[in-house]
Amino acid sequence: MNSNLGYDTAYPEGPLPEYEIRLCESVDDFAACVDLQRTVWQFSEVDLTPVRSFVITHHSGGFTYGAFSTEDEQLLGFSYALPAFDDGNRPYIYSHMAAVLPEWQNVGLGMKLKLAQRDHARMRNITPIKWTFDPLQSRNAYLNIVKLGGVVRTYFPNYYGNRSTSALHRGLDTDRLFIEWWVQSRHVANALNGVQRQDDPVAAVEIPYDIEAMKRRNMDAARAWQLKARAGFHKCLADGLYCAGFEPGRDGGNSRYLFYPDEGIEMR
Ligand SMILES: CC(C)(COP(=O)(O)OP(=O)(O)OC[C@H]1O[C@@H](n2cnc3c(N)ncnc32)[C@H](O)[C@@H]1OP(=O)(O)O)[C@@H](O)C(=O)NCCC(=O)NCCS
Repeated sequence: MNSNLGYDTAYPEGPLPEYEIRLCESVDDFAACVDLQRTVWQFSEVDLTPVRSFVITHHSGGFTYGAFSTEDEQLLGFSYALPAFDDGNRPYIYSHMAAVLPEWQNVGLGMKLKLAQRDHARMRNITPIKWTFDPLQSRNAYLNIVKLGGVVRTYFPNYYGNRSTSALHRGLDTDRLFIEWWVQSRHVANALNGVQRQDDPVAAVEIPYDIEAMKRRNMDAARAWQLKARAGFHKCLADGLYCAGFEPGRDGGNSRYLFYPDEGIEMR
């Protein structure tokens, strides 16, 4: 049992139920997304994205995909995205949330929900897709950078401030990396085929393999890791590098973000 989050993150006994990924369109679909946020993030009510926001998003160019069990229509996971504009007024898609029920995490659902977003974006010719994630979450980094081929050029210290009620955010500043997912690029095609960059990185930033376990053991150590990762990212990005690789820690070792000179190749 993971006592910090209050739910069991171990693999379930049985197989993943059969499911289909489809667009969420009804108020019931959106209500299920609200419930799933409660389970995954353990937000208090004030931090939940409510049904109204899902409805508005659905009617204004955004989209939510859900993974529904075919047997009983239970929502197993969802991804939620908004239409957005960057500083140069270019449209892109901002993916605000992706979540999978704790008992079905780590078995590929998150990846499938991101691929549904990619297909949606490509069909409408709006790319890239961008989203944020906590730089100390090794699993998210692995999924976003290695499995999906996202790259990082931006680090936001304390993005949401210190008001979040989520168990996942407790005790630390809400630092976030901004992932850019150039879904038409060769870099992404390679990543989706399991091919990573072969050239040597010029810098690396380490994080613990399991920050949640560290938070339970020693919150001061977790804070120190956050400051170290923040400083490391600031230096690498200020040096004109970008993050386009990640190595998950093996055998109790730390994970590592890998940096390369930024040649802007993902945009092609
Ligand atoms: C993030 C999330 C959506 C990903 O969905 P998921 O279904 O668990 O992800 P996937 O199974 O597709 O991919 C996770 C990968 O990370 C790997 N992984 C697990 N723990 C890891 C760790 N500590 N470090 C590196 N990789 C890790 C898994 O083995 C899997 O890789 P594999 O397919 O090669 O085995 C889901 O875990 C979740 O809901 N997390 C909590 C909420 C959250 O952080 N949402 C994202 C920010 S909005």
